[in-house]
Amino acid sequence: MSFHYRDNRLYCDEVDLDFVAEQFGTPSYVYSENILKRNAEVIKNCFIDRGFQVSYAMKANSNPKILQLFKSYGMGVDIVSAGEYQLAKHVGFQGSEINFAGVGKTADELKLALEDEIDHFNVESLFELEHLEAQAAQMGIQASVLLRLNPDIDPQTHPHISTGLKQNKFGMGAEMVTQLLTHADQYPHINFDGLHCHIGSQILNPQPFLDLIDYLEIFTTALAAQGVKLTHLDLGGGFGVNYENPFEDILETTPYLETFAESAHKKLGSFQLHIQPGRVLVANSAVLLSRVLGVKENGDHYFVVIDGATTDLIRPALYDAYHEITSYEKKDVSRLGDVVGPVCESSDALAKQRQLPEYGTGDLLTVASAGAYASSMGSTYNMRPRSPEVLVKADGSIDLIKRRQTFAEMISLY
Ligand code: LLP
Repeated sequence: MSFHYRDNRLYCDEVDLDFVAEQFGTPSYVYSENILKRNAEVIKNCFIDRGFQVSYAMKANSNPKILQLFKSYGMGVDIVSAGEYQLAKHVGFQGSEINFAGVGKTADELKLALEDEIDHFNVESLFELEHLEAQAAQMGIQASVLLRLNPDIDPQTHPHISTGLKQNKFGMGAEMVTQLLTHADQYPHINFDGLHCHIGSQILNPQPFLDLIDYLEIFTTALAAQGVKLTHLDLGGGFGVNYENPFEDILETTPYLETFAESAHKKLGSFQLHIQPGRVLVANSAVLLSRVLGVKENGDHYFVVIDGATTDLIRPALYDAYHEITSYEKKDVSRLGDVVGPVCESSDALAKQRQLPEYGTGDLLTVASAGAYASSMGSTYNMRPRSPEVLVKADGSIDLIKRRQTFAEMISLY
């Protein structure tokens, strides 16, 4: 199942992608419910069934239908803004299923989340702790807090998505965390329940995660010796996926999930453990379906200009990320070229220097691994409306889970 060729045409499960293009236009994101369910199942088996609390990091993809699906597997959500909070509530998450992360939270955001008695705040700085203490005191309630520790561990990923190093803006160093926890009585409206670490994203090597587990084992033992008793540890997200081979199963892509879960459970099992996966749950579940507007050549440079753009998938431009290009009609590759969008930026490329087939105006192609940080990072630059999202359901039916934005909607803001 998943995305595959049938009679040399690309299908999402039982649905011909040409049919989706005709029905909903291009560019559009096409998701497979079967893949989303499979991914949720893996995370459930590895983590939820071992007693972990799983909060889906909804920044990866915040479509309500996808949030609802993950909720049905027993996941909560990790949010980073009032907007994500509103969406979580709209979908039906209880306060107790929400944790609030992020390096800067406004006074209004703290108040909103306190009023709803969310499960906990991941607090990243002294100023945030002070704001939260003041707000909770004013409301006469207690705030549950995990302090975000920056363990200075190299996640061996792209520098833009590394968060666990000293030079990254996230979290607090071990000394500061120790200082706060040993003086907890200065914050009478804060319950210091535990620690949170998120060292980075798209991590393919298990070693940084195993180092994190060892680090936390040593650090919490040292804290306990100073009389600090914690009950919760959140190990963050960051599990990487295989962009080179986008249609493989996540247990092949991220084979260390089991090892990680087992090791954490063995070494830190006396704590209530949490994780916050985003990408691994959604990345391989979708493609960006686009039509070729035309091809052009500048000297020996071959450009395939498509209607999809960095406004739909900014990862190649922002992180030099690789996303696989797959033709709708199976074709032999014959020449080196770039697949680019119509946006007025040289960086508006979805793929550079790839072996591509001869394309012609009107051909369909897909950009793979478009389920994570694609739609959620989309924009309306060049007054391009946001693209629709189409879900191919497990029963073979098709659900338009986000419609294309209209020009009237875009103009109505002015
Ligand atoms: N928890 C925290 C506190 C985070 O900051 C993030 C992601 C996650 C969990 C989820 O990480 P994941 O499992 O998805 O790796 N736009 C970038 C990724 C940015 C990640 C930001 N934080 C990209 O497209 O690669």
